[in-house]
Amino acid sequence: MREVVLPVIGTVAAWREEARALARAGVPAEAVVWRVGAGAGDLFAGAPPAVSAPGRAPKLPRAAVEAIETALCHRDPERFARAYALVLRLSAGAVRWADRSDPAVRRILAQAKAVQRDIHKMHAFVRFREIPPVGPRRAFAAWFEPGHPIVEAAAPFFARRFGDMDWVIATPAVTARFVGGVLGFVETAPGARPPEDATEELWRVYYASIFNPARLMVKAMQAEMPKRYWRNLPEARLIPGLIREAPRRADAMRAAPPTEPPARRAMAARAMAARPAPAADADALAALRAEASGCTRCPLHRPATRTVFGEGPATAALMFVGEQPGDREDLAGRPFVGPAGALFDAALAAAGIGRSEVYVTNAVKHFKFAPHGRRRLHRSPERGEVEACRWWLDRERRLIRPRLIVAMGATACAALTGTGAGLLRRRGGVERTAEGTPVFVTLHPAAILRQPDPVRRAEERGRFLADLAAARALLERLGGHAATGAPA
Ligand code: URA
Repeated sequence: MREVVLPVIGTVAAWREEARALARAGVPAEAVVWRVGAGAGDLFAGAPPAVSAPGRAPKLPRAAVEAIETALCHRDPERFARAYALVLRLSAGAVRWADRSDPAVRRILAQAKAVQRDIHKMHAFVRFREIPPVGPRRAFAAWFEPGHPIVEAAAPFFARRFGDMDWVIATPAVTARFVGGVLGFVETAPGARPPEDATEELWRVYYASIFNPARLMVKAMQAEMPKRYWRNLPEARLIPGLIREAPRRADAMRAAPPTEPPARRAMAARAMAARPAPAADADALAALRAEASGCTRCPLHRPATRTVFGEGPATAALMFVGEQPGDREDLAGRPFVGPAGALFDAALAAAGIGRSEVYVTNAVKHFKFAPHGRRRLHRSPERGEVEACRWWLDRERRLIRPRLIVAMGATACAALTGTGAGLLRRRGGVERTAEGTPVFVTLHPAAILRQPDPVRRAEERGRFLADLAAARALLERLGGHAATGAPA
């Protein structure tokens, strides 16, 4: 009997090498015992290595190799033995990879799927806290407890996404470290969980503000965010209390007399009191809109149907800025009425923000496109076009004087803060315009719609919603209101 001890770091690559050598040496599956050992250096504890054996290395279809190697990240202790046995059967022609009635093939596929799902969850649920930097780059740390040993498979995503900062993701067994642009792994030191800081508090505010007791669906919530991930999420600490409180809060909501008209009146009164001469604002805004309808400040006005100016009350405390009108907006003459607008509207409603309470506009007021047969394909505006159109955005801002602006996407960010770079890193943060108005940064809804993977798309949608809920909570802290008046 051969005992193969695989290292904790680089387990899959080590298994691949050993499985290849064992198969070449003709070692049957039943003759090998596999295990992972902390600090394993000598791979073959119980027998001499088989690497010098002469035979042919097994040849498998690419899809089989991918699924098997993904399944090797499953927590099943028998995974190495099962994978090796299947490799031998596949290479001997005893089973075909396409044969989905074979229990071993089916099990590998199911395990690979579970691993993929866990990787997606890790990508969505890791929460970084800023820590003191050791070099010139900002530094972040996160603690995460995945369902399977997936850190090495999941970490390259973070390296791509947060390539301009140093970070550490510690899990109970393995820690991923990205320092100076180099990704590496070490066995986790005891006590690696980073301390809490204000970022967690912010997450708790997000989560509490989007929670609606009347719509509590514990099963759906657990399916989307399985319980084993709760302990890694600062906001999840609220869940048991929110669930306990939900029936009482929902009863109270049902029993309460309808509050919408008085609440809306009170809100309107507050907004009116806070703003001198709102009627004059509305007139001035209408005049600005009329002026912009003849805009020729850049060449984009020529092919576009019309200027798509912002819309919403002149007294709005909350302003949303997108990139530029799309095909549908260009035809309708209104911002955010196409597919991105549908996602935006749904997120506003879920965050309890009334679209009629907020001002919605774009950084660029004309649709930029390239004709493609009968279709007009969106083209991103260039810096000069954004700069030319800032003339209108700045005047909209000065007239409306919102308490908070939400920048959706890099173009809006560039028009409001001077740069659109590093959006993913800045997302969820609050910056300022040159005049000092707070700008909450989030993604553009169209970027979420473009996400090809449905699981990631759903996750991004959830994050966008959480961003809008956080923006609403921030607005309320700043003394402004944009609520629908009805619970979200
Ligand atoms: N995308 C935008 O940025 N604005 C719109 O109005 C529609 C889509």
